[in-house]
Amino acid sequence: MTPAISEYPVSIAIDDQEFKQFQQLLLEKTGIFLSPVKKPLLTGRLNRRLRELGVRSYADYYRAIVLEEFPDELQILINCLTTNETAFFREPRHFDFLRDLCGRPEFLKRMVRVWCAAASSGEEPYSIAMVLADTLRHDNWELIASDVNSEVLDQARVGYYALQRGADIPKHYLQRYCLKGVGQHAGAFVIGPELRGNIRFQRINLVEPLPALGQFDVIFLRNALIYFPADIKLHVIEQTRRFLKLGGHFIVGHSETLLGTVSDFKPVSPSIYRRI
Ligand SMILES: C[S@@+](CC[C@H](N)C(=O)[O-])C[C@H]1O[C@@H](n2cnc3c(N)ncnc32)[C@H](O)[C@@H]1O
Repeated sequence: MTPAISEYPVSIAIDDQEFKQFQQLLLEKTGIFLSPVKKPLLTGRLNRRLRELGVRSYADYYRAIVLEEFPDELQILINCLTTNETAFFREPRHFDFLRDLCGRPEFLKRMVRVWCAAASSGEEPYSIAMVLADTLRHDNWELIASDVNSEVLDQARVGYYALQRGADIPKHYLQRYCLKGVGQHAGAFVIGPELRGNIRFQRINLVEPLPALGQFDVIFLRNALIYFPADIKLHVIEQTRRFLKLGGHFIVGHSETLLGTVSDFKPVSPSIYRRI
């Protein structure tokens, strides 16, 4: 059926001044720098929101956010503007590394703690959890999965995915740790209870003062640093590395580097560092 004219999306334009206000707000609140070429991305993601709220311009929307006229709108803005691309067993060499690490005798005997600090919709933390559960052969491990985007974190908590998203999960992990949907859930799978009990999901903004989390053996912070300008990247690394045990490992995305940032990180391989 052809929609009525009023249902067609009405585009709300943003001028340079308005874009700069949002650019500054996002940078201040999350550390993410939106370059001017991302203007269409911003309007593409926010136009519908403005219409839902009945707000007529980006200047009015900005004002409403900073004056806190709409509860939770800052978080909604953040949820709209983060990039959450992820996948199960993305950059698989990191999981081979984790498997080898967890096979070491000292890891087999004691509590192991891992923090996945940009967990997005859960594919990364569940991949880590599968390796921990399978390799450690004891249940004495804990995984904190955090992100600044509360919406993707809710999806992660639910752990429900289309079957195609599981294509890169090794088959024996799929069989052991995932439940295939039937009936109205055909075409989907859910992460099973065996992993869930050891994972804590928490909203954590890496640019804000961090909560007490304890010390970790491994920190995954992959494909998030690329969105931060150099000074914020350094601040985020400085804060997160304090949660790493001496001798612990810090893992970033393959296209990211920590070289030239902090002196107590020794590269183990191009995107894996050991705190010395
Ligand atoms: C491209 S995704 C990467 C997801 C996953 N780490 C991976 O490599 O597949 C980047 C994630 O970083 C999160 N992020 C961005 N800024 C953040 C901040 N200041 N604090 C915490 N998470 C942040 C985003 O919400 C997003 O989920």
